[in-house]
Amino acid sequence: MTKTYAVIGDPIDHSLSPNIHNAAFKELGLDCTYIAYRVPKGELEAGIKSLKSINIAGFNVTIPHKIEMIKHLDSLDEDCSVIGATNTVTNDNGKLSGYNTDMEGFLDPIKKRELAIKDSKVLLLGAGGAARAIVAGFAKEKAHNITIANRTKEKANALVQFAHKIGIEAKAITINEVAESASEYSFIVNATSIGLKNEPAPISTKSINEKSVVYDIVYMPMNTELIKQSKKNGATIIYGYEMLLSQAARAFKIWHGIDVPYETMKKALLGGV
Ligand code: ATR
Repeated sequence: MTKTYAVIGDPIDHSLSPNIHNAAFKELGLDCTYIAYRVPKGELEAGIKSLKSINIAGFNVTIPHKIEMIKHLDSLDEDCSVIGATNTVTNDNGKLSGYNTDMEGFLDPIKKRELAIKDSKVLLLGAGGAARAIVAGFAKEKAHNITIANRTKEKANALVQFAHKIGIEAKAITINEVAESASEYSFIVNATSIGLKNEPAPISTKSINEKSVVYDIVYMPMNTELIKQSKKNGATIIYGYEMLLSQAARAFKIWHGIDVPYETMKKALLGGV
């Protein structure tokens, strides 16, 4: 029987996860399908009930349910419990197990380039769900410290508390306070949604240089203003689609036990196959 997978969240109509996973199913000849299912905030419990009633084999979880979903799990893996959020769930006859592939998915492209994280200084823009997994990733790889810059200072403060709890030095500032300080950091990561709508870069890129690594987790458009300007300044660039593909590949491995054809997924994402 065909196995069904899904991504749940809201908004969900622009999600590229169905393209990625369905392309991989086709390439590997798997009798599986992957759908996008809109589950609005406040309707998670009913959404899960529906998923169970169609005997969903597994699902991804995105905004705004990544944290809320934890309550509905029967078991959690270690990354999932450290981060306090899940993006990948398996369903074994109604028993839901949660995983988090965002953290390792974020780290993969850095490791692929053999960039050293240990003892580095990090500037993280944003303090939402994605930023949380990123903080956990830098803590795991023993970065020296993280400056968390967010529009809403309270949310940055809360993320600093989390950073301290998992053993990494951190401080909170507002995004305006970044000013021209970008050159003080080895890694500059955008985990806000700024760029999605072709906005100007979230910070001034004047001091970004060839020693900077600029990682923008916004993947659509691929070349955000932050990336365009940083590239001009000679920085090492890591694209948001790389994290998207890595977390998807890791979810694929959890569900199907096999490595995903990365190039097929990449083509589905960038070539619109
Ligand atoms: P995600 O799960 O993708 O991290 P999120 O939890 O909604 O999504 O977080 C979105 C992040 O983008 C937040 O850091 C948010 O800042 P606030 O905490 O101040 O809301 C940031 N963000 C979104 N739109 C922004 C804007 N126009 N200017 C500055 N920051 C913005």
